Amino acid sequence: MLDTPKIDEARLEAFATRAIGDLTAGYTGVMVSIGSKLGLYKAMANAGPLSAQEIASRADCAERYVSEWLNAQAAGGYIAYHGLSGTYELLPEQAMVLADEDSPVYIPHAWNVPASMWFDEPKTLEAFRTGKGIAWGEHDGRLSCGSAAFYRNGYRASLVPQWLPALDGVVEQLEAGIEVADVGCGYGHSTLLMAEAFPNSRFHGFDTHPASLDEARQNAAAAGLSDRIDYTVSRADDYPDGPYSLICFFDILHDLGDPVAAARHAAKTLAPGGTVLLVEPFAHDHVKDNLSPVAQLYYSASTLICCAHAISEGGSMVLGAQAGQARLAEVFRKAGFTHFRRAAETPFNLIFEVRR
Ligand SMILES: C[S@@+](CC[C@H](N)C(=O)[O-])C[C@H]1O[C@@H](n2cnc3c(N)ncnc32)[C@H](O)[C@@H]1O
Repeated sequence: MLDTPKIDEARLEAFATRAIGDLTAGYTGVMVSIGSKLGLYKAMANAGPLSAQEIASRADCAERYVSEWLNAQAAGGYIAYHGLSGTYELLPEQAMVLADEDSPVYIPHAWNVPASMWFDEPKTLEAFRTGKGIAWGEHDGRLSCGSAAFYRNGYRASLVPQWLPALDGVVEQLEAGIEVADVGCGYGHSTLLMAEAFPNSRFHGFDTHPASLDEARQNAAAAGLSDRIDYTVSRADDYPDGPYSLICFFDILHDLGDPVAAARHAAKTLAPGGTVLLVEPFAHDHVKDNLSPVAQLYYSASTLICCAHAISEGGSMVLGAQAGQARLAEVFRKAGFTHFRRAAETPFNLIFEVRR
């Protein structure tokens, strides 16, 4: 007979506390979504201490609900509570994360991703049991919107000021005027940022999800950049030939069922002297080195979204969102590229320069 396992009380308490913290985070996500959609954070931004009644009236909401929401937010440290006056305040740092949509650390829309993951749980259970895939477009619509919003922050902060300059000679080419492909462009936030910065170049966004491209077209029109950007429904391994002097993959290569075919198509459509910009989720090469909160987020999304999509496309190589540099380099080596260099990194992304 097996001995009853001995429980380490300290380890039990530490882990249970940690698990309850994660549960609390799930509740907080709902509160953040409500605060964002109802304009409660914006009503509090730059306003100093306010009573619940003042905040409810500024956001045109019912006071009793707002006061309970405020207490939940204060308990979680999302807003400050001033006990003497019984008022609530959104501090400037909290406003950057919760109220300012242009801030690089703005978070509320990103909660749409776990919302879609919960909503799609029945599909995921079925996929685990059958081994079948789930295509990107089969998910609840909050996935594409939340994912685009999550990455947009990082792109705004880094793409033009840091990542493109980290590629040898690419900024000079963009300034002179080149053709650029943005493969799997989704809502096109990356395309738009590049088109804004480099008026002499032309940008071509490709994606298999028509609804995302509709959003991308609207974003380009709203920015007055439709003359520099076109969007076409195309697969990563059969978009029009170009040639393109810059081919970008922003958070898409690991989603593909056949990433080597996409890399081969890039090799075929790349202009002489051209560059592939590969942006992927930050990851080390081995699971033992990927045991961090960022990896926890990515592995979770990868289970339900990235792996499921790659499997839906036939899944000849299912990289997952924590592929790591060695496996990514191997994809491009198989496609005939000889140069693969890590050009930059952030806590959330790895940025590679790839050349033939
Ligand atoms: C995680 S999203 C990234 C979107 C965008 N690049 C970004 O960074 O916000 C992955 C995108 O790849 C697209 N996609 C998936 N499979 C594709 C394929 N085979 N060819 C082209 N696009 C594909 C999806 O529709 C989705 O828009």
